[in-house]
Amino acid sequence: MAWGLLIDWVELLVRWMHVVAGIAWIGSSFYFIALDASLAPHPRLDPRVKGEAWQVHGGGFYQMQKFTVAPEFMPEHLTWFKWEAYSTWIFGFLLLILVYYLHPTVYLIDRSVMNLSPYDAVVIGVASLVAGWIVYDQLCKSWIGQDTRRLAIVGFVLLVAISFGYTHVFSGRGAFIHIGALVGTIMVGNVFLLIIPNQRIVVRELLAGRTPDPALGEAAKQRSIHNNYLTLPVVFVMLSNHYAFTYTGRWSWLVLAAVFIASFLVRHWFNIKHTGARPDWRLWPAAAVPMALAAALTLLGQPGTAAAPEPGSVHFAQVQHIIVTRCAVCHAAKPSFDGIEEAPKGVMLDTPARIAALAPRIYQQAVATRAMPLNNLTGITEQERQQLAQWVQDGAKSE
Ligand code: HEC
Repeated sequence: MAWGLLIDWVELLVRWMHVVAGIAWIGSSFYFIALDASLAPHPRLDPRVKGEAWQVHGGGFYQMQKFTVAPEFMPEHLTWFKWEAYSTWIFGFLLLILVYYLHPTVYLIDRSVMNLSPYDAVVIGVASLVAGWIVYDQLCKSWIGQDTRRLAIVGFVLLVAISFGYTHVFSGRGAFIHIGALVGTIMVGNVFLLIIPNQRIVVRELLAGRTPDPALGEAAKQRSIHNNYLTLPVVFVMLSNHYAFTYTGRWSWLVLAAVFIASFLVRHWFNIKHTGARPDWRLWPAAAVPMALAAALTLLGQPGTAAAPEPGSVHFAQVQHIIVTRCAVCHAAKPSFDGIEEAPKGVMLDTPARIAALAPRIYQQAVATRAMPLNNLTGITEQERQQLAQWVQDGAKSE
């Protein structure tokens, strides 16, 4: 018990750091996108200044100026924005290990999708993140990457293909977290392997009085635009892990594709707005279409339900049998399921009184959202789900 609690605490701390770092990263990146777009030139300014923006915050005024060539003097201290990104990835990867790679049989593998060994599942997961970065990076550097529109189309097709791939290798939940981890890795890779190194060279060149190669800046700009458009979908994918209906249906990979399109459109609206131009309001209804499609796909993708039993026809003995075989292997004081050390979320379904007391949550998890049994590891049938539903509707009696 004490051991399990300690592990839960570690997981919670790591998740907390991951989210806080992510907020700092996305916050600063949204801020700079908006700042950059709002810079306006003025004759009063130093000719080396591209533009200026005035802002008010925290009881004072900020006069922000952007130098695109070396300023007259370099301040002693220059703030770099990188640790927000690095720490988001580090804690995110730790969390991936804690939740998924330490419990592959519970969270990552769904034998009805692919009968992977725990070792293979983890190797495929990690290798796919590395390979995904390499493919993306090479794509940006190839002839395809020379045209934004071409790259966007090829990139999107690849993203959908990899979503399809993941959902046909891992459990739904494992697949979604890997899409999120892959996109997140690409975003951090952009910062770590391209944007920051290029920026360092630019600073060095400017300080030496030389004109830096414009290709350095252009490549960094390209990657930071990608990061900008990938922010909303990556956050969606992370949150979706807590909403089983997004990843349990058979069209889950198409759900992702639709959400990606919707979030690109929404991000685009903000990017236009930040420049001070009149925002294009048609983008919102345009984004609502793929979002509605995503919702419809989650509905259509559910397996057909079995016929509902007659009211009053389900006896508690049947319910108890279903719960014991399908749920209590994990949800008991001493779970027998390999990889589960203690009752998940403290939910115990091992006595008639507990089963009856938890009826609404059983309904919610096993019937309404189908989040449970986790990845249907215990092979509950549609008929059994309907029996649970009928028992709850009949008043969830424990005799
Ligand atoms: C293979 C192990 C396993 C089986 C089998 C299983 N569960 Fe779970 N259950 C879990 C895990 C792990 C969690 C925690 C999920 C998370 O972290 O998101 C959980 C969470 C829950 C929760 C709490 C959800 C919440 O977020 O508050 C309920 C309720 C639940 N399960 C009910 C059931 C029912 C009902 C069944 C049988 C139909 C079942 N479980 C079968 C592993 C299992």
